[in-house]
Amino acid sequence: NWVFLNDEYISADQAKISPMDRGFLFGDGIYEVIPSYDGKFVGFTPHIERLIKGLSEVEINLNYERSKWLEICERLVAKNGKGDLGVYLHVSRGTSPTRFHAYPENIAPTVFAYTFAIPPAPNANKDQVRTYRVRTLPDLRWQRCHIKSTALLGNVMHFQQGFKDGYDEVLLFSEENRLTEAAACNAFVIKSGSVATPPLDSQLLPGITRFILLDVLKKYSSLHVAERAISKEEVLNADEVWLTSSTKQIAPVIAIDNKPVGDGQVGDIWTQAQLLFSEHQFD
Ligand code: PDD
Repeated sequence: NWVFLNDEYISADQAKISPMDRGFLFGDGIYEVIPSYDGKFVGFTPHIERLIKGLSEVEINLNYERSKWLEICERLVAKNGKGDLGVYLHVSRGTSPTRFHAYPENIAPTVFAYTFAIPPAPNANKDQVRTYRVRTLPDLRWQRCHIKSTALLGNVMHFQQGFKDGYDEVLLFSEENRLTEAAACNAFVIKSGSVATPPLDSQLLPGITRFILLDVLKKYSSLHVAERAISKEEVLNADEVWLTSSTKQIAPVIAIDNKPVGDGQVGDIWTQAQLLFSEHQFD
């Protein structure tokens, strides 16, 4: 398996990073995951725009433009045999001889990329799609969840709180009992033919799958689509609930806290949404 590390393409077992790297010591970095199906990327441009914006927000100075990222991603996918791959991109602030919290001056960011296998794109078949059972939890992460930080301990702990008891994901709620997102996905709630997802703010990641799905539904379906605050009660009474992420596309949630969502089956609006997403994801 080939990886990219600081301008070199090397095999994974040759890749070495200093333990003094701030990514390791502080989780001081930004990452991205871009799906590629048989060499075709989904949402490449918005993924790279989010990465560049995140780097500037935390003042990591890396002079890679879109074209440089495209070259890295295309070369890695080709070297690793195409297929269905997620491309993981990671930029940490770099390695500094001393551990001091302030941003060091004049250090070079560490740039790492590798690929991993992802499931084939869902084909909108209710009988074949992987379904999710989730647990609700208070969202105890920080106030900057819009930044795709490599410091994921908050998300990891939430995911584990579900996983240890056999849940596939979690749904997180703010102190005001508003839905934020899942540990590694955005969330959508469907009631009487209306599709809703929480509006973007600092409590959730601006997911690229979320963004593409909203766009596709507005353009190609007659469904009512809204970005608005969603209460826990609404989530528990929804007809359908979906999770979205780059590696899952649109994933139906069939049980929340061991109670069925709607009739406990994959819903019809999911089929419609996943079909439209499949048709237009490479636009
Ligand atoms: N997870 N919210 C969180 C907290 C996420 O970690 C992710 C993605 C999403 C969905 O974003 P997108 O549609 O851009 O993938 C929402 C990635 C895949 C991960 O960490 O593996």
